This record gives sequence, structure tokens and C-alpha cells, in this order.
Amino acid sequence: MLLLTGATGLVGTPLLRRLVAARVPVRCLVRDPKRLGPERVRVQIALGDLTDPPSFRNALRGVKTVVHLAGTVRDQAAGSIEELNGIATWRMVQAAERAGVQHFIFLSALGAGAHNRARYLRAKALAEQAVADSGLRHTIVAPSLVYAPGDRWSTLLGRLALAPVVPLPGGSGARSQPIWAEDVADCLLALIQAPADGAVASARHELGGPDALSPSEAAHVVLRAAGRERPVLPVPTFLTSRGLRVAEALAKSRTPVTWDEAELLQVPMTTRHGTAHAEALGVVPQRMAVVLGAV
Ligand SMILES: NC(=O)c1ccc[n+]([C@@H]2O[C@H](COP(=O)([O-])OP(=O)(O)OC[C@H]3O[C@@H](n4cnc5c(N)ncnc54)[C@H](OP(=O)(O)O)[C@@H]3O)[C@@H](O)[C@H]2O)c1
Repeated sequence: MLLLTGATGLVGTPLLRRLVAARVPVRCLVRDPKRLGPERVRVQIALGDLTDPPSFRNALRGVKTVVHLAGTVRDQAAGSIEELNGIATWRMVQAAERAGVQHFIFLSALGAGAHNRARYLRAKALAEQAVADSGLRHTIVAPSLVYAPGDRWSTLLGRLALAPVVPLPGGSGARSQPIWAEDVADCLLALIQAPADGAVASARHELGGPDALSPSEAAHVVLRAAGRERPVLPVPTFLTSRGLRVAEALAKSRTPVTWDEAELLQVPMTTRHGTAHAEALGVVPQRMAVVLGAV
């Protein structure tokens, strides 16, 4: 039995589709089973929450492989970014050790580091450390920004493009190597199916797409694909940070972008390995412009 967390997310959805097609027995730890869509009748469901460690024990019964994707780039009512990404992963690892899990696969992020300016990437560094320090056979996967047609960022940019100029939070920003969620899912499936004694199953895999893009270059690709090419206006960091903090105080969880999310555009999410780690898993990442139909 494989336990998948985050099965309803951008990466979890295409991964779950592949696991079901490959007839891998899967249990999903979810907050709301309805969000699994049609796949919910083909998997076991364990109701749970990252803020509720007792729910992990139940979910892990009889599990040999854990694929831990659940995480968040914004604070939730029941837990902070640090609790949901860092402490929850540490607790999941402990519960997995107690349950006799054989392989723990964790989705971290490029740029994860204890001294990174972004809270999310500091929390991911703590989580990576907990996984690496465990006695479990483990695999850490660190992707750059992950995208898919119609995802939250594309939808937001599409809305902003109703104006003649598209404001982009956070100055000129740093480069990332956007990678398609379907390509990440293919890499994860390759790792799940890799032989237990092979080097590939236990390495740290950095996954980037073929193009290193600034936030405004990526925004232009998305806008071109949507047929709404507009000038993009980078908004200086100090204005973005103040504006978004006020918006968060007023709109709470309904705010379309938080400062923590916008700050990630300021942090490089690139790998010197380019697409090599993905290709070593048999996956050739697609160009963003091709996936979104912007060529
Ligand atoms: N997207 C990116 O650009 C990117 C880049 C690098 C790394 N990553 C990492 O990759 C992983 C998957 O990312 P993603 O883009 O697929 O994320 P996503 O689309 O935001 O989905 C997050 C998933 O985590 C679940 N989740 C969130 N809070 C939870 C909680 N308190 N309890 C239980 N489940 C919870 C969500 O379930 P609900 O349906 O209940 O909300 C959803 O299934 C994450 O760990 C993320 O940090 C993402």
C-alpha cells in the first residue's frame, strides 16, 4: 500500500491518475474526499490533516511507501507555513518510522535552505533535514516552480490582464525553471517504480524545466497563451510587501496573493543540473511555451 498526501493538488492530481492507471494500491490522506474527483472511488481514503498528527497513524497502517506532497505556501487557520511544511513533515516521518514504512518520498522545493529569506523555503529545509535524518530509506525531490494550464497563477494573470497593463508583484524578480506538473508526476512515478537497491531511488533530485525565466518572462508566456499579451509592470518590492500585507489583513484567507507567495518570485529557484535529473528518470521536461500553447 502507498500513502499519498496532497493527492488533490497540482502535482498530486496527475500523480494519482498515473498510480491508479498502473494499478498501484493507493491510500490518500485528504481533508475533503470530494476534492479527489472521480479517482475517489478507486483509492482508499484516510481523512486527515497536516495539523492533526493522530490522523497520520491511521493513514499509515500497512503502508510500505509514503509520497508526501501535501504542503502550503500560505498560512492556514490551523497552522503556519512552518508548522504545515516543517513540523508536519517531521511528525509524518516519525509516524512512518513507527509504522514500518520502507520508502519515504518527499517533495521539497529548489532553493530550500535554512537561511533563505522566504519562510516557505526555510520550512522546506527543516522538512528535508527531518527526512534525511530519519532511519527510513528516503528520496527527496526538489522542483522549481510547478505549473499547469489553468493553475492558480495563470488564472490570476488572466484576470489581471483585463487591465491594459499587468502589475507583477515584487520588482524584477529572480529566475526559475518552471516545470510542468505532468513532468513532475512522471518523475515521481519513475522513483516509485525504481528498484529499492538502485542509486536513483535514494538520491536528491532537482527538477527544472528547459527554460530559466524571470517572473515577467514567465508572465509573458502565460499571457501570450491566453491571447492577452499586455505590457507587464514589475511593482517594487517595498510597495508589493506593504500592499499585500494590507490586503491580507482586510481579505484574510480570500486574498488572491499573499506576501509570502509574492516573495517567492524574488528567490532564485534554479538548478545547475538543468533538466538532467529529470532526464535521468526518463522524463524530458517540456517547454512552458509549448505546454501552454504560446508558440
Ligand atoms: N507548485 C509549485 O510551484 C511547487 C514548487 C516546488 C515545490 N512544491 C511542493 O510540491 C508539493 C505539491 O505542490 P502542489 O503545487 O501540488 O500544491 P497544491 O496544488 O497547493 O496542493 C497542496 C496539497 O496539499 C494539501 N494540503 C494543504 N494543506 C493541507 C493540510 N492542512 N492537511 C492536509 N493536506 C493539506 C492540499 O489539499 P486540499 O485539497 O485539502 O487543499 C493539496 O492536496 C508541495 O509540498 C509544495 O510545497 C510546489
